Amino acid sequence: MTTKHEATPDLKSVKSPKTTADFAKYFQPPSLKEAKKRGKEDVKVLYDFSIPDDMKEIGKGRHYLIRTYGCQMNEHDSETMAGILEQMGYTATEDELQADVILFNTCAIRENAEDKVFGELGHMKHLKNNNPNLILGVCGCMSQEEKVVNKILSSYHQVDLIFGTHNIHRLPVLLRDAMFSKEMVIEVWSKEGDIIENMPKMREGNIKAWVNIMYGCDKFCTYCIVPYTRGKERSRRPEDVIAEVRDLARQGYKEIMLLGQNVNAYGKDLTDIKYGLGDLMDELRKIDIPRIRFTTSHPRDFDDHLIEVLAKGGNLVEQIHLPVQSGSSEVLKRMARKYTREQYLELVRKIKAAIPNAALTTDIIVGFPGETEEQFQETLSLVEEVGYDSAYTFMYSPRAGTPAAEMADSVPEEVKKDRLHRLMEVTNRWSREKNLAMQGQTVEVLFEGESKTNPEVLAGRTRTGKLVHVKADHSLIGQLVDVRITDAKTWTLWGEIVTKVEV
Ligand code: 5AD
Ligand code: SF4
Repeated sequence: MTTKHEATPDLKSVKSPKTTADFAKYFQPPSLKEAKKRGKEDVKVLYDFSIPDDMKEIGKGRHYLIRTYGCQMNEHDSETMAGILEQMGYTATEDELQADVILFNTCAIRENAEDKVFGELGHMKHLKNNNPNLILGVCGCMSQEEKVVNKILSSYHQVDLIFGTHNIHRLPVLLRDAMFSKEMVIEVWSKEGDIIENMPKMREGNIKAWVNIMYGCDKFCTYCIVPYTRGKERSRRPEDVIAEVRDLARQGYKEIMLLGQNVNAYGKDLTDIKYGLGDLMDELRKIDIPRIRFTTSHPRDFDDHLIEVLAKGGNLVEQIHLPVQSGSSEVLKRMARKYTREQYLELVRKIKAAIPNAALTTDIIVGFPGETEEQFQETLSLVEEVGYDSAYTFMYSPRAGTPAAEMADSVPEEVKKDRLHRLMEVTNRWSREKNLAMQGQTVEVLFEGESKTNPEVLAGRTRTGKLVHVKADHSLIGQLVDVRITDAKTWTLWGEIVTKVEV
């Protein structure tokens, strides 16, 4: 492990290691155990990011491709990496054969996410034969895992570079090392580094933008690997977030998604000011931009002040993603979620009372160790009680290094699958019912682009985040338009433009 101030070049380069033992001689792999230790030292905010002079032109005439897996945080990290590569002169490509740099920005949340990446990495072998100068890099959450780094070292020799979630700002230097050393370059800090402001970003599209408000997670839900792969909770300074949103508004963006693993803990680590997510939202709502959302919430930290501010509406949209994970207080306790079923339902009641048209969405895990049929039934009944607009549902997947992985994974695969199907029947029914209730209503839609299947149809989203298809002119892309909902399916709404009658 190199800590944040110890990233010396001689530590990070590994001379063609062939085995894990060989590797360990040169470099200590990332450690989930070390990552769990939360230090008291302040996280510094650095404002002086720059590309080293000798790397500024290095990408001229060269191409890069970034494959992104997992959550919106990863998508946004990829935008930062793309921004850095563009500043180095590289051009984006979708063609693997044309690419000189391919980065896999990976996700560790469930085993199947990891399997997918290993499968793709395997396919990359032939590309190296085709283009020996190709630099193949692995970054993101998987690279924070010791066992993943060891597996790549022993079986994926086509990989040239591995770097962690805390090392993105070092991409130019790492790329230089990978290009010129012919050795596998590895830099994964187990401990989070500083907050680096002013990194360039190559944002996808010019309608919606992601903005980080905090990094890391200190919740340590027992099933989850994120607190280990993303480090401790660190909030960006409010003035930096506000300045970024203002700048995006000036550039003409219409919608902002604020990002954090647990956005409700925003500000708790800022020692010099008493400032929370409610305060931030209250400031942001004064900015002239049509829509602001945030994700992801933790019910435990969702306070009354935030609800009060969200109820003011305006550009703060009425959609709240509120992962519940389970409807059973006993399971929630074993998950270390730190709330009970009743406390969650009370929070939902408060939100619905303050924001009556709020659309609630959630995440649910089935088959957590020891989950009984009765406890699963409690999840079903909670879903019926809340009536979610949509839900992301998952089968529990043990993650090595987390406390739940030490519990007996007692629910057989078949039972997990069966519960998932039964749960989805209920969540889908609610999605359909919520959508059907919108038929005949007129709602504001932000058009984002063509529909995937029909170029004559535009796809957009309501304030509540619902997908709407409308046959409309392309000039409306990027516009907020009133649409009457004419038809509703489980996943999509159909509508027509409401034309105002001139009088
Ligand atoms: N197994 C299954 N689902 C998980 N999630 C997080 N960790 C696991 C796991 N080990 C789900 C949670 C979380 C979402 C992003 O992924 O529901 O909210
Ligand atoms: Fe994982 Fe829980 Fe943190 Fe969400 S709040 S990232 S589920 S540990």
